[in-house]
Amino acid sequence: MTSNLETQLLALQQEGEKAIAAADTLERLEELRVNYLGKKGQLGALLRSMGQMSAEERPKIGAIANTVKESLQTSLDKQRTALEAAQIQAQLEAETLDVTMPGIFRPQGRIHPLNGIIDRALDIFVGMGYTVAQGSEMETDYYNFEALNTPPDHPARDMQDTFYLPDGNLLRTHTSSVQIRYMEKEEPPIRVVAPGRVYRRDNVDATHSAVFHQIELLAIDEGLTFTDLKGTIKMFLQAMFGDLPIRFRASYFPFTEPSAEVDLQWNGRWLEVMGCGMVDPNVLKAVGYDPEVYTGFAAGFGVERFAMVLHQIDDIRRLYASDLRFLRQF
Ligand code: DAH
Repeated sequence: MTSNLETQLLALQQEGEKAIAAADTLERLEELRVNYLGKKGQLGALLRSMGQMSAEERPKIGAIANTVKESLQTSLDKQRTALEAAQIQAQLEAETLDVTMPGIFRPQGRIHPLNGIIDRALDIFVGMGYTVAQGSEMETDYYNFEALNTPPDHPARDMQDTFYLPDGNLLRTHTSSVQIRYMEKEEPPIRVVAPGRVYRRDNVDATHSAVFHQIELLAIDEGLTFTDLKGTIKMFLQAMFGDLPIRFRASYFPFTEPSAEVDLQWNGRWLEVMGCGMVDPNVLKAVGYDPEVYTGFAAGFGVERFAMVLHQIDDIRRLYASDLRFLRQF
């Protein structure tokens, strides 16, 4: 009886250790633990038969059973440690980065020169506390002209040959329309800059395009003067072009009074770079602002013009031709 149980225990140990050593997953190992050492496991089943044993036999078998149990437990622990280490190793290998592998070639995109100018200009104005706004390219006569102090028979309409749409709307001829849209929505103080596409019925040549880009600038507050306009424009042009001579030349726009054009000395020549002025009281009245309380200044300039000067581009059409040999230079 004794030797029989002892043989069974030792056989169980042998078989168990073999199975444990062969376990190749942690799940399998857990199954084996339950099978051998669990409450309803094989070792327990064998020990339950000890009940019929004599008092001398019992301690001896008990000691053997303990050895078997410990030995199986040790084997389980050892195998678990090994399996866990292998798992980590496998994971590390799967995630290994071969830094010597050649990369996947992806052609490098570039910012279009026009967007480059817009980005730079907006950055400069945002740095001065301006907000960026946008309007729509299709406009009503009111926002493009009337509210900007340009009634239907105003001669200044000839300055901007307009694309009219069949429904009576038009394609905006300048970003100045955004001034009105913005002031209608917001209250002073206002500092806003608005980039966008504009349209003119111009014949396309080296310096004209029927579609081009402008950036509009508007500041409204109590007590703004022409000095503020000059200072702002000067700071902007210096940030954009460097410290070049600039001059303000009296001019005319319906929506500003007084109005000026700004010239920049570039390669020995005076270049006209933007229009500007103090916002006409009629424009303020159109949006319900009291011109006795508020004053402001506005300016607008062509992005293509800036790009052509800064990058020494001789023909505006190059900016639209999508010729990569040209665009890759920027
Ligand atoms: N809208 C004018 C144009 O397209 C440019 C301009 C001039 C805008 C004076 C202004 C301004 O805001 O004050 O020719």
